[in-house]
Formats: sequence, C-alpha cells, structure tokens
Amino acid sequence: MKKNILKILNLKNKRPLVCLTAYSKPFAKILDKYCDIVLVGDSLATAMYGMKNTHNVSIETMIRHGVSVKSNLRKALCIVDMPANSYKNIKHAKKNAKLIFNKTKCDAVKVECNGKNYNIIKAIVDSGIPVMGHIGYTPQYFKKFKVQGTLEKDSTRLLEQAKKNQEAGVFSIVLECINETTAKKITNLIKIPTIGIGASVYCDGQILVTDDMLGLSGFYPKFVKKFVNLNNIIEIGVEKYKKAVLKRNFPSNKNKY
Ligand code: KIV
Repeated sequence: MKKNILKILNLKNKRPLVCLTAYSKPFAKILDKYCDIVLVGDSLATAMYGMKNTHNVSIETMIRHGVSVKSNLRKALCIVDMPANSYKNIKHAKKNAKLIFNKTKCDAVKVECNGKNYNIIKAIVDSGIPVMGHIGYTPQYFKKFKVQGTLEKDSTRLLEQAKKNQEAGVFSIVLECINETTAKKITNLIKIPTIGIGASVYCDGQILVTDDMLGLSGFYPKFVKKFVNLNNIIEIGVEKYKKAVLKRNFPSNKNKY
C-alpha cells in the first residue's frame, strides 16, 4: 500500500520507520520493497559524484536523480533534499521547493536547519509542500565531522531546534550524529517522528546512506554498519570477467549471434 505523510506520522510509537537513500532506478526498485521512506539525499555528491562535500550540488542534479527514483517507487514515500544554496531566502526557497516538488513528483522535500531558517521552512510548508527537517550534524553547514549534543548547552540548543522545526510544520526530523541522551530527549519531546543517522536506537526510525551500508562508498564511520560488502562482490564479478575475456572464454557459444 502506498505510504503517505499521515501513515508515517501514525507510525510514531508503533514501530520503527525504515528509511534509506537512493539516487537511481535500480536502487529505488529494490528499496521500495523494504522501506517506508526513500530519500534522494544530497549525499549523492560524495557517494556518486566523488565531491568532497555536499556544498555544491545543483538543483538540476537533485531533480534528475529525484525523477529517476520517484518514477520507480510504488509504495515508499519519496523525499528529495533541497541542496545547499537553494533556499537562501523565503522567495528563493519557495521557488526551488516548488520546482523540485513539481518536476520530481516527490512527496516532500528535506531542509537542513541552521538554527535560523525556521521562517523559510514554514514558508515552504505553508506553500503546500511537506518538509522533513534535519538537525544535528548538518553536512551543508559543517566543514568537519563532529558528534552533536554532548555538551549540556548543545543538547538544549538541539531540543530547541527540534521544537522549532515542529512548530514550523515539518512532519518528521532527521537527527544526524546526535548523542544518545539528547536523541532520546528529542524523540520523547516532539510529536512527529525522529529519523536517526548516528543518533542511537532512541529514534522513531533509522536512515543510512545506502552506498555506505552496502559497503560501496568507502566511507565507514562508527555509526555505519556494513550489512553486506558489495565492493567485494563487484570485484569478484569484474575479476572473473577480466579473466574470461583474456582467456577468450567470453563471449562463449551461448553469448553469440
Ligand atoms: O543526504 C543524505 O543522504 C542525508 C542523510 C540523512 C542520509 O541527508
């Protein structure tokens, strides 16, 4: 059955939400069978395009991958990231959110919170486009990786940010790299689902970058569990192919016209 925002909201306190990223058709088709939410994350910058960070992803890139993913999902909710520099002010944000929403036909967009942009988030929500929030380690605004919420004052700041995101109208919030105590407090404090990435089991759902959890990206911080090592599996296939070509065992009679 097709997921919608209401169904996602209703799952809070019932069962954990299963979320992953996808950037292309083959992944979308597989993930659709297992995930409540598929995110076309701007992590594609590093995972797919080999960029250093997510600071320079274009809106056209997000739309291209968003179209590919959304058109191959039947059940899962599709969320597309608003890339950095696509929501500089209310007018700019509304224009770009509409562009992403209309072109990709996604169910919602995700906006990283910088502790100030609540009016922008609210304006997108008020324009009729559902928004997923994102707090903690927000890669668009950081240069160096750092776990968030360990100091008392940071924990208080994150709780405040979660509340303000909720007030701005987001339907769920990604908590990225937030320590367990703070993540638990946020999850208990707000009514909407929290989706953790490196934010402990005390979240209403979990998300990972699919390329990381499949062992494809080469990026394995502590919060990533490699559920399979696709890198090795691909190498085995490519090595076998190389040997077969060099020995003229491929193409065989079965493969010729
Ligand atoms: O860009 C991304 O993939 C994200 C994560 C939450 C996984 O924002």
